[in-house]
Amino acid sequence: MKAIIYTEFGPPEVLHLAEKPQPVPKDSEVLVRVHATPVAYGDLLARNFKDVTSREFNMPLPLLFPMRLVFGLRKPKVTILGSEFAGEVEAVGSAVTRFKPGDQVMGYLGQRMGAYAEYVCMAESGSLALKPANMSYAEAAAVPYGAIMATGLLRRANIQPGHKVLIVGASGGIGSAAVQLAKHYGAEVTGVCGAPRLDYVKALGADHVVDYAREDFTRNGETYDLIFDVLGKSSFARCKGSLKSNGIYLLASFKTKALLQMLRTKIAGDKKVICAMASESAESLVFVKSLIEAGEYKSIIDCCFPLEEAAKAHRYVETGQKKGSVVITV
Ligand SMILES: NC(=O)c1ccc[n+]([C@@H]2O[C@H](COP(=O)([O-])OP(=O)(O)OC[C@H]3O[C@@H](n4cnc5c(N)ncnc54)[C@H](OP(=O)(O)O)[C@@H]3O)[C@@H](O)[C@H]2O)c1
Repeated sequence: MKAIIYTEFGPPEVLHLAEKPQPVPKDSEVLVRVHATPVAYGDLLARNFKDVTSREFNMPLPLLFPMRLVFGLRKPKVTILGSEFAGEVEAVGSAVTRFKPGDQVMGYLGQRMGAYAEYVCMAESGSLALKPANMSYAEAAAVPYGAIMATGLLRRANIQPGHKVLIVGASGGIGSAAVQLAKHYGAEVTGVCGAPRLDYVKALGADHVVDYAREDFTRNGETYDLIFDVLGKSSFARCKGSLKSNGIYLLASFKTKALLQMLRTKIAGDKKVICAMASESAESLVFVKSLIEAGEYKSIIDCCFPLEEAAKAHRYVETGQKKGSVVITV
């Protein structure tokens, strides 16, 4: 099969087309012919993992070395990128009951990746769901990662109708899902992002948008029930004054200091810090599929590139111009 591989860490040009053996599904696995796979945050990170500094690493430092072992110390260990995809089931293992050949599906492969290819295999019990009937393959491919992560993370915040929610990083993979889920839960949502993506975040349903380069949301006098910072760009010290009593400061990216603040605020204080991890979940994907089919959740595509032009797609994402998902079509 055709696949985009990389055998050296580095700039987009390390990605090149190659022939790889087609995977064969085990008894409990499905073989999917990939139609589309987006360029996600994790793809850019993994492509250049060797050069990620401890400062750039958005998680507690003790996790950096294990992550280097996963992605490779000197050379990439995971040689085909792409953690999410949409496609058609081509074949199923003998024990598979949830899917059959011909089913249109979307799925999340997590850190093992592999979707920049004509075929992927994954366990039927993994994060795999039928593709929403009202979405194209390109639109559906951009759903799983953000949907699974945002559903898992927002579960920790127990959003209630009428809550005021502010999302920092609202234009990214997780943030764009979080905006739409928070709206579904009945919240009044403010999205913080860069100027080129303000309209995109509004189109996702945010009630208010803030350009982080022009306005400091911690100084505008507004208070929120939940501040959800995806990239961990803010700090609890700065955000505390913008939280209502019993407000939650939720982080998807955090360092050890934030973990200590979580412990401290668990014991004392009416404002809580929560550092949360979401795990792979087919249930979250099925839930978001139902929202999509009810017209409550969308996927906005900036542009598509053919598989052979994966390097160009990465280069484009790195320009910071994208307004929505950049998708590789296979
Ligand atoms: N806890 C978990 O379970 C979990 C799971 C997966 C990933 N993560 C973490 O989530 C992060 C990636 O999230 P993602 O995939 O959504 O990333 P992404 O798609 O690359 O989006 C990044 C977002 O951050 C925004 N941003 C950049 N600089 C900013 C600033 N100075 N102030 C405010 N916002 C800024 C960007 O806004 P503009 O582009 O508009 O400038 C964009 O909306 C990583 O740190 C990763 O470690 C956590």
